[in-house]
Amino acid sequence: MATKRLLRVLCGEAVWPPPIWLMRQAGRYLPEFRALRAQADFITRCMTPDIATEITLQPIRRFAMDGAILFSDILILPWAMGQSLTFVDGTGPVLEPVRTAADLAQLDASRVAERTAPVMETLRRLRRNLDAPGSMGIAQGGQTTLLGFAGSPFTVACYMVEGGGSKDFAITRGMAFSEPVLFERLIDLLTQSTAAMLCDQIAAGAEAVMLFDSWAGLLPPSQFQRHVIAPTRAIVRAIRARHPETPIIGFPRLGGLLVGRYASETGIDAIGLDTGADLDIASALLPKGMAIQGNLDPLCLIAGGVTLAQEADAIRDAMRGRPHIFNLGHGVLPQTPPEHVGALVEQVRRA
Ligand code: CP3
Repeated sequence: MATKRLLRVLCGEAVWPPPIWLMRQAGRYLPEFRALRAQADFITRCMTPDIATEITLQPIRRFAMDGAILFSDILILPWAMGQSLTFVDGTGPVLEPVRTAADLAQLDASRVAERTAPVMETLRRLRRNLDAPGSMGIAQGGQTTLLGFAGSPFTVACYMVEGGGSKDFAITRGMAFSEPVLFERLIDLLTQSTAAMLCDQIAAGAEAVMLFDSWAGLLPPSQFQRHVIAPTRAIVRAIRARHPETPIIGFPRLGGLLVGRYASETGIDAIGLDTGADLDIASALLPKGMAIQGNLDPLCLIAGGVTLAQEADAIRDAMRGRPHIFNLGHGVLPQTPPEHVGALVEQVRRA
């Protein structure tokens, strides 16, 4: 039986007060992250176990979060397949776009295990550190759950095809309609390699894994079925075959009314809800007893004060009696004052 509070909720238990961690809890809002950032570029930071371990643990030391999410990125997978990737200040990720059969043929999934070996080493170190009370200055020794993650095939495909971020990923969505066979091949390639990479993460020490589908909600229902639900179901099946006990969190951001179908058809254990999801309406759509993670607006965390306390209480109270993991509805923003994160953690942990 799980004893860590976050793992208990993922196994379907209603724990009060709810466990808390935040998406992008390691990042530019922390001065200690900005200090390390000056030392190495983004990919080097992800691929150097010393640095990635340290960055992952920074928010745990400060806030004793219930979850520690591996410091890496969803775009490490295409990078590991050989797609060129750089992170440009002020712009975000820049990739050489994959749009033709010839581009697709350049990708080499057989290299992923070898190129992501440093990430697995980071996970092994993190697990040792987290489970050793008192080490690395972590106060709450032994209570923090180690989370692995990947992007979902559709969201990763968005960046691969577009060649970077976009407000609507129109090139990618257009390709799904106009070149369905090619697009499906890309989704299949990502489905298989994502499942394999997540299995490696679990073998290296991740106690639960999360699939980030940040752009799932851009798709109409028929395409959502094909490029979000079907690949997620295949990934869940592949992980279950090797690691039946490891909980899987799905995050179909902007999924709206489709979260019900997503939750019941993919086989995930828990669902992340975005800021736009009404907790009562969404709960009614979800399988009874499914753990819910979310969904405070990251902008409210920037505002802080009474507004933050009230919004956090409203979410906590709405979920009382259900398995709930307190989180944001999207990642922590760089302008967030770290003290507000501390205040939020205290607020959520009140008896
Ligand atoms: O703390 C954590 O949450 C763990 C690490 C993590 C990062 N990215 C680190 C990161 C995780 C889980 C991600 C997921 C991710 N990456 C997503 C899905 C979640 C979401 O935000 O929707 C997406 C779409 C990406 C792709 C990505 N990576 C973008 C668009 C950007 C640029 C935007 C930005 O904030 O600069 C990144 C860079 C990135 N990934 C940073 C961090 C801490 C900022 C890098 C830096 O400037 O140092």
